[in-house]
This record gives sequence, structure tokens and C-alpha cells, in this order.
Amino acid sequence: MRITMVGTGYVGLVSGTCFADFGHQVTCVDKNVDKIAALDRGVIPIYEPDLDRLVEANVRAGRLAFSTELPEAVANSDAVFIAVGTPSRRGDGHADLSYVYAAAREIAVNLKDFTVVITKSTVPVGTGDEVERLIRDTNPQADVAVASNPEFLREGAAIRDFKHPDRIVVGTDDERARKIIAEIYRPLYLNQAPVMFTGRRTAELIKYAANAFLATKITFINEIADLAEKVGADVQEIARGIGLDNRIGAKFLHAGPGFGGSCFPKDTRALVKTAQDHETPIRIVEAVLSVNEIRKRAMARKVAAVFGGSLRGKTVALLGLTFKPNTDDMRESPSIPLVTALQDLGATIKAYDPVGMEQARNELTDVTYCSGPYECAEGADALVIVTEWEQFRALDLGRLKQQMACPVMVDLRNVYRPSEVAAHGFKYESVGRPSPSPG
Ligand code: UDX
Repeated sequence: MRITMVGTGYVGLVSGTCFADFGHQVTCVDKNVDKIAALDRGVIPIYEPDLDRLVEANVRAGRLAFSTELPEAVANSDAVFIAVGTPSRRGDGHADLSYVYAAAREIAVNLKDFTVVITKSTVPVGTGDEVERLIRDTNPQADVAVASNPEFLREGAAIRDFKHPDRIVVGTDDERARKIIAEIYRPLYLNQAPVMFTGRRTAELIKYAANAFLATKITFINEIADLAEKVGADVQEIARGIGLDNRIGAKFLHAGPGFGGSCFPKDTRALVKTAQDHETPIRIVEAVLSVNEIRKRAMARKVAAVFGGSLRGKTVALLGLTFKPNTDDMRESPSIPLVTALQDLGATIKAYDPVGMEQARNELTDVTYCSGPYECAEGADALVIVTEWEQFRALDLGRLKQQMACPVMVDLRNVYRPSEVAAHGFKYESVGRPSPSPG
């Protein structure tokens, strides 16, 4: 199959590269000349494990190319994926669809033979209808079908998720489109991945419902964690105890500082807006959003509580800044409001993140960046684990204690066993678990 991927952001680049790896002929196009030039030199604009190797191998094999020329790529394609950004619109939380519509118009005038145009970007229900209308208005002669094929990739595990998906969702009622999309995903059929064909609007809503459900699951366990903390119960045991029930499932029950990232916050906001517009508010997701919002600042108060409520004159060392490990992505990271709240409480902030510090510099002010966890802990009054990077799971606690001005660890990701940290003489606080007395 000949495929054009419009947009070389996270989703476009990973999907385009994986399609090429399946053996298809893929051109990834983007308006950003510098980005395309960098990709041509093998420089990958995002941090995603294994992506650089896969890009290089497929470029070398002649299956993957990067271009700023959308017209030529589209004219020679069986399928054109739209994978441009759909950020939250400033002011109202709706998804900003201007990039999607601009791409649709440009695709429309360059269509030749029968082509399937497929939206991969996360778009509100009904966007596929609008994309189809735009294309038909712009180019009434176009032989085209418009389908929806949402992605469910997790950052940091995107290639694995692409190649071993729990399911593939395709929204179209066009038989020719169905055949082409089935052919594109054929290698995954061989991996027995369930492919679900459904209506276009249904496919669009599946994506939002999935993300909102996962965000709800996280928020639920976070609130249970707060209660567990108050009553002396252990949220990790609770998560295990409920997760063993197949109807609930064990995943996405890790209590923490609240969800962040490029998808959950934006998609839950957009779903809430869509539902309100249709006069069927989804109140449970509205609650998820507001609970998650206040949680991040509450984490700063948790640190301050160790010192009687104020952090004036205290130095707080943060380990991990990205919204989750294995990414350099700082979008809507809980660390951003957390840092501000800690500063509001009087703290001086030092921080270390294995790959996210360059991005963090754009988001955070008055932070001293360190080159490693021990340098970060040096002279600090409290060490806060914000993101659960693997390298923070086996820190030398004895060394940390010696370096810190005051042995306090606040573990917002429940990485350590409380008894283990306390045995090293730390005051240890985590999320939803009893605090041990220092040994
Ligand atoms: C998510 C979805 O998982 C993916 O299917 C969708 O396509 C895009 O959004 P991603 O944003 O990469 O992927 O990250 P994910 O691993 O889902 O984590 C999102 C946020 O939730 C992170 O801030 C993470 O720390 C938090 N989280 C996740 C928890 O706090 N607890 C959990 O149990 C799981």
C-alpha cells in the first residue's frame, strides 16, 4: 500500500514508521521545513525508545521518506492519514480542529484515483463528517472515502503498542475503504489483533470514551488513596485486591500525583465540552477533571505538611519532571503546578530528570537543574519522587541520607517500600500508604 502520513508529530511519526516497517510505502509530510530536514538527517524530534533505529532501517530500505510536498505524496497514495495536532482551544477547552481542516482542504485538491482519507488525530465526534464535507466541497470530482482510525499509543511504549495493540478501531461504512484499511493492518491480523469495524462517529467516540475511562480509573484510585492515608490503609493492597477482579482489571490503578500528558487532560476536557453541547453532560468526567486539577497542588501541601505547613527556607529536590517515564514530554506534567505550589509555599527548587530537562526549562522558572539524583539531593531538606523513572527505583539510600540536610523523602509514585526507606532513617511519605516512623 502507498500511504501518506500528514503530520510528523508523535502519532504521525510513530504510525508512519511502523506502517513502513510492515512493508508499506510511506511518505511522512509536514509543513515544518526544519523538522523534515532534521528527519532526513536521521534526527528524531521526540524521545521514544527504539524509534530512531526503526526510522533509520526503513529509510535505508527505501520504504520511508520525509517530505514537505503534500501534493505529490497525496496524488500517489492509496491512503492518506491525517495525524496533525488537535490541541485544546484556548479559552473553552474544545479541541482546536483548524489543523485537521487545513490538512483536509489541501488533501482534497490533490486527490487522484480512489483514496481513503483517514483521521488518526483525536477528533470530536462528527469531525469525520465535516472532513468529508470539506473534501467534497473543495473537490466535487474526488473519488474518496473518509474513515476514522483512532490511535491508542502510550508514549514511551508507542512502538510496542502499535505492533501489539489490544485492538484496532476503524470507523467507515465504505466497502472500498474497508478493504484498503484491512490490507494496511494485515500484518496485525496475523498477530491476531482484533480489528473492529464500526461507524465513523462510533469510532471517534470510542477514543474519547477509552481515555476518559482510564482517566477516571486513575482519579478513582487517587481519591481512594487519600482516604486510605487518613484511615491507615494501604492503597497498593487495595488496588491489588480490587484489580484481581477481572471486571475491574489490575491496570491503571497506580495512585500518584494526578494524570498529565498530551492526551488525558485534553481529551477529557474535549469530551466534557462535547457532552455539554449535546445537553448530556458526563458529570463523572467533569468530576475527574476538577479532582485531578486540585490534586497537583495538594501534593505540594503534602510535602509542606512534613515541615509543619511551610517550606520557607527549605530546599526541595525533585526527581523526575516529565509527565511519565521514558519520554521527554512535559505537556501538562503534574510537575509544573507542583513546582509553582512548592515555590508559593516558600521552597527553593532543585530538579533532575533523565531526559526532560531541556523541555522543562521552557515550562519552569527559578529551578536549579542538576546532573544526577545525588547532586540533586545534595543539601536538600526533602527529596520528592515525581516521575517513576527506572533509575530512581534503586537509589543508594545511605548515600542520599548523608548528602541531604534533612532526611525526608516524599515518594509520589510509591516506588519504595516504606519500611525500607524508614530503616535508613528517613521520614518517608508516599501516596495512600501508612507512613512508618524513621528507623
Ligand atoms: C494515554 C493512553 O494510555 C493512550 O492509549 C492514548 O492514546 C494517549 O493517552 P499516555 O498519555 O502516553 O497515553 O500515557 P499513560 O501511560 O496512559 O499515562 C497518562 C498519565 O496517567 C500519566 O501522567 C501517568 O503518570 C498517569 N497514570 C497512569 C497514573 O497516575 N496512574 C496509572 O495507574 C496510570
